[in-house]
Amino acid sequence: MKLNLSDRITKPDFQGEFTASILAAAASPDLISFAGGLPNPVSFPIPEMEAATKKVLEQNGVTALQYSSTPGWPALRQWIAKRYETMGVKDVSPDDIIITNGSQQALAMVGAALINPGDKVIVEDPTYLVALQSFHVFDPVVLTVTMNPDGIDCDELAETIKNNPEAKFAYLIPNFQNPTGLSYSQEVHDKVVEIFKESNVLLLEDNPYRELRFAGTATDSFGKELGEQCCMLGTFSKIVTPGMRIGWICVRNKELHDKLLSYKATADLHTNIFSQMVLAQYLADNDVDEHIEKTKALYKAKSDLMVACLKKYLPAGCELTPTEGGMFLWVTMPNNISAVELYRKALDKGVAICPGDPFYEYKRNVSSFRINYSNSTDEAIEKGIKILGEVCEELLNA
Ligand SMILES: Cc1ncc(COP(=O)(O)O)c(C=O)c1O
Repeated sequence: MKLNLSDRITKPDFQGEFTASILAAAASPDLISFAGGLPNPVSFPIPEMEAATKKVLEQNGVTALQYSSTPGWPALRQWIAKRYETMGVKDVSPDDIIITNGSQQALAMVGAALINPGDKVIVEDPTYLVALQSFHVFDPVVLTVTMNPDGIDCDELAETIKNNPEAKFAYLIPNFQNPTGLSYSQEVHDKVVEIFKESNVLLLEDNPYRELRFAGTATDSFGKELGEQCCMLGTFSKIVTPGMRIGWICVRNKELHDKLLSYKATADLHTNIFSQMVLAQYLADNDVDEHIEKTKALYKAKSDLMVACLKKYLPAGCELTPTEGGMFLWVTMPNNISAVELYRKALDKGVAICPGDPFYEYKRNVSSFRINYSNSTDEAIEKGIKILGEVCEELLNA
């Protein structure tokens, strides 16, 4: 039967096909998957969550099982507001925080609140594929700005904003960018602040990996200098658990705050209150910084092993972006080898990676791919990268 559907999401778009395939690869026990951005399950605090769940049900079960309010559980919003102090932002109020179903929902909310068809939005090139997918639903014109090893290209950004002052927002991932794993240097950070201060464009900062830094120093959040011109997205997915689906958006512009809240109410009334309360209890009863330190040590060891294997097994001429944290490495192959072809051939041999193409709005047939190191056993890393090296070699010699 042919239903009368809207023009929105007429078919899974280019990014959507890869998002579905990444999630499927992650769920397939027969594959070695380096495709997703999954935390290592070893880092999940299962006994602590069990204790927190028991406490919430015993002490506050009725509230946890009842409908709740749209902005989210106050204790959790207080914790998040205070956490911004570690990112240099001292004046965040719990009232600025809206708890969302992962930061992914915040991306969808921003799209709904800000983009009319044909509106301009600015993104890094490449950028997070599911952010592109979320924005596409609202039919914007996507303007891209090159990512350099030390962050976004500031000359290009300044030019893009100068020529498109009406752009709705610029979506930036300043730490361990998805997909490249690159971070903004302090110099780039400062220039970005200057550029935005001279415009009315909103900076949408997405920072899921900032706390996973195992070397170097993190820049502060753009919200420190830009105040209400910066909306900050955050998540517990990478530091505690993605399964509870708890993220947030910190929005200090009143008009935008109310618009987002109203959209959130129509989407789901509120994020799962049971999960929010359990997470808040977990954070109150445990030292999350200690937990994050352990996770970082684990990821550093995985990253070191993956880098060593890539250097050992990939053909000469493959280049790796250096990384100081997060979950991804970004590899560029020589001789214009197609990353999509590598992806298909490697998948046939039981190894999943994520080709670079869907992270670009316009570029296709790219030779770069994203590879995740956080969620594989050491044996899988050694075995999977060896296979990847063989497939890459075959393509190079074809
Ligand atoms: C840059 C970026 N933003 C947002 C998300 C969404 O995370 P979540 O919805 O789990 O908070 C991810 C997930 O991988 C990501 O890499």
